[in-house]
Amino acid sequence: MSDAFAAAALRLSAVTRTYKEGEGQLEVFRNLNLVLAPGELVALVGPSGAGKSSLLHMAGLLEAPTSGEIIIGGASVSALSDIERTRIRRDKIGFVYQAHYLLPEFTALENIVIPQLIAGKPRKAAEIEALRLLTLMGLQDRKTHRPSQLSGGEQQRVAIARALANGPKILLADEPTGNLDERTAAGVFDALMVIVRAEGLAALVATHNLQLAARMDRALILHEGRLIDGGKLGVGAT
Ligand SMILES: Nc1ncnc2c1ncn2[C@@H]1O[C@H](COP(=O)(O)OP(=O)(O)OP(=O)(O)O)[C@@H](O)[C@H]1O
Ligand SMILES: [Mg+2]
Repeated sequence: MSDAFAAAALRLSAVTRTYKEGEGQLEVFRNLNLVLAPGELVALVGPSGAGKSSLLHMAGLLEAPTSGEIIIGGASVSALSDIERTRIRRDKIGFVYQAHYLLPEFTALENIVIPQLIAGKPRKAAEIEALRLLTLMGLQDRKTHRPSQLSGGEQQRVAIARALANGPKILLADEPTGNLDERTAAGVFDALMVIVRAEGLAALVATHNLQLAARMDRALILHEGRLIDGGKLGVGAT
């Protein structure tokens, strides 16, 4: 096994995903391989329907591949029990969606405290960590605001902080700025980059925004069932 493989934060090996479609099968991708190194920020781009969300769901252990292996921190997860998989998802993976899914009746701070309490952390330590993450996202003065009292960009920044509440090493984001206007999207992405670098995360971010993709370390292009390493996209990629 090469060093890059052994040290990978996340690896997908020969992953195939098919869905039932009427009488037949829809094959989204076949024998897909991916290596995400620790500390690497990678864009996942490709046309609508190419399978970006499916790929992220499998990488995030939200969905099992039809065949192939998901390897996190050197260990294959397919052989694990549901309980063990749930624990890995909680401790090692942060997930951000296009919508923020914050709990409306709780403050920004509480939204980041709650997942830590569920994981068994004492409240005081959870609050300190939540405030640290909010501060990294530039939102320390919004900590007592409820989601409805935050702008769309602020809501999404809280959602990113919440995804990191339990100290994962992998961040998976599915069009995290997809609901935002261009300027707000750029601001949220700035904050995402700050926190990804500060925490030394490996991040895989699906986006239709090629300007944002060009700011990441490299881009993976999903197209017609194949994953192509596009390297670092040029600024003129738009
Ligand atoms: N649960 C499911 N059952 C059946 N088909 C599905 C399911 N989830 C996704 N698909 C199909 O798999 C393909 C890939 O979908 P996916 O949502 O992963 O694409 P995407 O690249 O994320 O697209 P977008 O950019 O629009 O978000 C699509 O053809 C979709 O219809
Ligand atoms: Mg999608």
